[in-house]
Amino acid sequence: MNIQWYPGHMTKAKRAMKEDIKLIDLIIELVDARVPYSSRNPDIDELGRQKARLILLNKADLAGESWNEAWVAYFKSQGFQAVKVDSRNRGGLKQIQAAVLEACKEKIERDKKRGILNRPVRAMVVGIPNVGKSTFINSYAGKACAKTGNKPGVTKGNQWIRLNKTLELLDTPGILWPRFENQEVGLHLALIGSINDDILDKEELALELIRFLRSHYPQVLPGRYGQEVEEAVGKAIQEPWPDMAAALDHDHVSLGILQEIARIRGCLAKGNEYDLKKTANLLLDDYRSGRLGRITLEFPPEKVQGGPDR
Ligand code: G4P
Repeated sequence: MNIQWYPGHMTKAKRAMKEDIKLIDLIIELVDARVPYSSRNPDIDELGRQKARLILLNKADLAGESWNEAWVAYFKSQGFQAVKVDSRNRGGLKQIQAAVLEACKEKIERDKKRGILNRPVRAMVVGIPNVGKSTFINSYAGKACAKTGNKPGVTKGNQWIRLNKTLELLDTPGILWPRFENQEVGLHLALIGSINDDILDKEELALELIRFLRSHYPQVLPGRYGQEVEEAVGKAIQEPWPDMAAALDHDHVSLGILQEIARIRGCLAKGNEYDLKKTANLLLDDYRSGRLGRITLEFPPEKVQGGPDR
């Protein structure tokens, strides 16, 4: 499938980010726990070269638990501090403070040697659109936080949120642009819903999801929609719909399953035909909202502890 999208203002965003990064000690980078690779932007490594780093695997509630552990282990093996969080339900937030102190150990030591005590670490939250930056700031800062007002040197409009004695957060998150590496990255970002759906072929996307689930999480579709989904596989193999499958450039088994879900859920269009677009929307919504269960789409490189939990 061919996904193309063009975010505007990339240069402007990068320039603004550079300015903001000058003001901080620590970059708190949010990634989506279901696609920790595709939801990272490698530019941040370059932009934040001199800074302490913490990666938060957000939406951990939607991803497989042992894959979350495996990704945390992987990022730690790459020299980052990493914590899995569920910002919407405040899950994992308690682990952040210790990770912040660990990430900023050197800065805190340096301050101490210079006789500077209790100077809070200043941090900025960054991540691609929709990864949960605002949700995280709101739940982490909570109601108890105090905005410290504008200070000289702070980009106009930006304020610091004092979380506690050791941490201040820039109230506006930095928006990173998604990476544009290959079609698989595009596909994964589309599946989690972080690319504008209007420019995508939902049916194709749903078929890709079906294909992935069948190979990595085979229980999920029958579990959600009924055993008939499995029976549809046998039927599809015996009675393929070659023309339709070819037209969609897809294997007819996935198409057979989508049709079966349409039948089970009564997604019919005029003339009693299956409404595959509606069915695709239903399936994608079920995935994105977690109704299909906790499903990780990307796995860390091998030789890392943890996973799988299929
Ligand atoms: P952004 O600032 O990075 O653009 O993202 P934002 O906080 O707006 O969050 C985007 C969507 O992701 C929101 O859902 C939000 O509730 C959801 N979200 C954020 N963190 C988590 C998490 O840890 N787990 C889960 N399951 N969802 C999370 P929405 O549908 O756009 O809004 P709403 O339905 O919450 O109102």
